[in-house]
Amino acid sequence: MKVRRVPVAAYGASAPDHALAAWAATEGGVEIGHVFLCSTYSAYTAQVDSLHVSPEHRSRGVATALMRACVRWARAQPYDTLTLRVQRYGSRHRQLSVAQLRAFYTKLSFAPLGEGSDKTLMYRYL
Ligand SMILES: CC(C)(COP(=O)(O)OP(=O)(O)OC[C@H]1O[C@@H](n2cnc3c(N)ncnc32)[C@H](O)[C@@H]1OP(=O)(O)O)[C@@H](O)C(=O)NCCC(=O)NCCS
Repeated sequence: MKVRRVPVAAYGASAPDHALAAWAATEGGVEIGHVFLCSTYSAYTAQVDSLHVSPEHRSRGVATALMRACVRWARAQPYDTLTLRVQRYGSRHRQLSVAQLRAFYTKLSFAPLGEGSDKTLMYRYL
């Protein structure tokens, strides 16, 4: 499995709004996962978006590798903070629960953002 940064334009209309960078995990030249980094209201904060791994390749560390590549790149940019929204979507095959997703992001140094009514937002400093 390889993870590399790819042009956002490669995803066409399926890229999230405000995407500024994308990473793809591939195996045998075939994409098995991706993640995007999007701009936000702040020049110093970027938001992780649309983390996804093909169902048949889950639970093998692909999402972890994608997130690490994304964080490594963001650290070399002017950003000082990353945010994300914990939100399950797509196929439920070997899908993580919201609690498991939170634990996954916590291991990657993300913490819940504030005490407001929206408890799905998390952040980490770079
Ligand atoms: C969420 C998702 C990206 C995780 O991808 P993945 O490649 O399977 O994740 P990883 O293999 O890197 O596992 C990450 C962590 O999740 C946990 N995990 C993975 N598979 C698990 C399973 N079957 N049961 C319980 N925990 C599991 C583990 O804590 C693991 O870390 P560890 O092995 O270091 O302890 C994938 O399930 C997916 O694409 N879901 C659909 C899209 C989605 O909902 N994205 C979330 C956006 S917030």
